[in-house]
Amino acid sequence: MSKISAAITAVGGYVPDFILSNKVLEGMVDTNDEWITSRTGIKERRILKNENEGTSYMAIKAAEDLIAKKNINPKEIELVIVATTTPDIPVASTAAYTATKIGAVNAFSYDLQAACSSFLYALSTAASFIESKRYKKILVIGADKMSSIIDYTDRATCIIFGDGAGAVLLEPNQEGLGLQDEYLRSDGVGREFLKIDAGGSILPASHKTIDEGKHFVHQEGKTVFKYAVSKMSDACSKILERNNLTGEDVDWLVPHQANLRIIDAASNRMKLPEEKVLKNIHRYGNTTSATLPLLLFDFEKNLKKGDNLIFAAFGGGFTWGSIYLKWAYNSN
Ligand code: COA
Repeated sequence: MSKISAAITAVGGYVPDFILSNKVLEGMVDTNDEWITSRTGIKERRILKNENEGTSYMAIKAAEDLIAKKNINPKEIELVIVATTTPDIPVASTAAYTATKIGAVNAFSYDLQAACSSFLYALSTAASFIESKRYKKILVIGADKMSSIIDYTDRATCIIFGDGAGAVLLEPNQEGLGLQDEYLRSDGVGREFLKIDAGGSILPASHKTIDEGKHFVHQEGKTVFKYAVSKMSDACSKILERNNLTGEDVDWLVPHQANLRIIDAASNRMKLPEEKVLKNIHRYGNTTSATLPLLLFDFEKNLKKGDNLIFAAFGGGFTWGSIYLKWAYNSN
């Protein structure tokens, strides 16, 4: 019997209706459309405004979209991984709630947190379960409600992030399609440069932490930017080298959408023409765990069976990496 690989066989997605444009941000903080567009490539982002709804709301919508499109019985799903940095509530798993709500009653489920690399790591984890023949149907959802941890008086961060969710189904493949190779890394040196100071075990929530605004994302943008460019490009080069690929063999670069300049730097180093680079940052900003599956969701019709996809991400921690995957189907 030929080797089993883990293939993406369906995609779903969801973004909230509410659009926060650069123009609206101009009225909230000292910024302007020209600065945001030229420094980041972002024009607008989606915000989940529904009261009492968290990340699971979007994760469920993305999963339901996938289930309806693929016409699968959710009872057949064996594992649900929700990649997220903004779980609904501490302690109780967002994935458990999501799985129950979508009717995946025979699945076990868990959250996976690796900041902006969460989805990439989740893809790797899920693929191992498929390759080992342990499970045959795994749902990986990347979802984040970044607006819940952003200070909308801080122009350094509020212009970047947005809310959204994307989902993929992983199934065994015997045609040599699916995940081919991965290069994943992390380095704790990054902890100081991109984080939320309070609310964790080091500095639990108190009146003081709230008064001092320590429950919002804080980042040293320039440092994160430099690391992101170097590490993401490096990971892509490694994965190409290891698989004897050049830019010409790559059909699509699927890069984390944090900053258009980071994406351009990585794609230039791979000598990729612009039309091979998937981008939707102008519409959604940085949705953290959702950027990669939302790219697949938006560009699903462009992807053809056998296409070579190179995923790349970089995030807080630091965490980063690249995955080489052969696309497994043509969508109608
Ligand atoms: N509008 C207008 N001006 C702004 C601004 C805003 N929203 N944010 C910062 N500025 C100003 C700064 O105050 C600074 O002014 P000064 O030169 O008078 O001090 C100037 O613009 C340059 O700021 P800087 O922070 O050096 O800009 P930058 O070119 O590094 O861009 C980021 C800032 C955040 C867009 C960029 O660093 C970045 O994208 N970093 C990586 C972010 C990221 O990927 N995070 C998620 C992890 S995946």
